[in-house]
Amino acid sequence: MPQAEALNRPIASLAPDSWAALVSGLLQDEAVSPGGVEFYRDKNRDASQVFDSRDAIEHIVQIYSSRMATKSVNGLCCLEDNLPLRMAKGDFQQVISNLISNTIDACSRNGTIHIDSYTYEHSCIFTVSDSGGGVPVSILDRIFTLFFTTNQDVSTGPGLWVTRDIVEKYHGTTAVENRTEGAEFKVVLPGAILAS
Ligand SMILES: Nc1ncnc2c1ncn2[C@@H]1O[C@H](COP(=O)(O)OP(=O)(O)OP(=O)(O)O)[C@@H](O)[C@H]1O
Ligand SMILES: [Mg+2]
Repeated sequence: MPQAEALNRPIASLAPDSWAALVSGLLQDEAVSPGGVEFYRDKNRDASQVFDSRDAIEHIVQIYSSRMATKSVNGLCCLEDNLPLRMAKGDFQQVISNLISNTIDACSRNGTIHIDSYTYEHSCIFTVSDSGGGVPVSILDRIFTLFFTTNQDVSTGPGLWVTRDIVEKYHGTTAVENRTEGAEFKVVLPGAILAS
């Protein structure tokens, strides 16, 4: 359904698929801000853009540094030096931004966030993990669903749905695992994205 048509219909009459298409369209038009920082404002969606993933991640960490400092959350990056990507930079930054934003929410004071990047068997791997105690098992299978959130007071929860949607657009995968101290989110992008 075209977005304009969807917007003119009563919300209750929309089928779930139309909901997803509508929200996706709104996000493309920058009307919604998942995960707090709007890299969707970057109009340049050129999927043949080449940029350094380390620089892009460090830029996002810098943006979140004051929010991390407020909670005394420590950010530790272990980023591969030479990992240039060919994809829309705004897409990549939105993915990493959403994951980092969630880890800050999850951490209590003096928590720690780890952001790692590396290549493995021709894939580009990005992990964002925290010491926030993990995702409760009861919601683990729902967190990537559109509008799922446990922060109803401040959000409608598009963050992880958008994250997965972007990653799948590039034929990648997203996964979450609970580790000893907290959750680890892993994004795997295919080697075809690697620009070196
Ligand atoms: N690192 C994490 N540790 C524990 N729970 C998490 C973590 N990341 C996400 N979650 C859970 O998954 C839910 C969905 O995350 P998602 O990013 O989609 O929405 P949100 O953070 O609540 O809001 P927004 O869409 O504004 O980012 C969160 O509400 C939270 O319950
Ligand atoms: Mg979020």
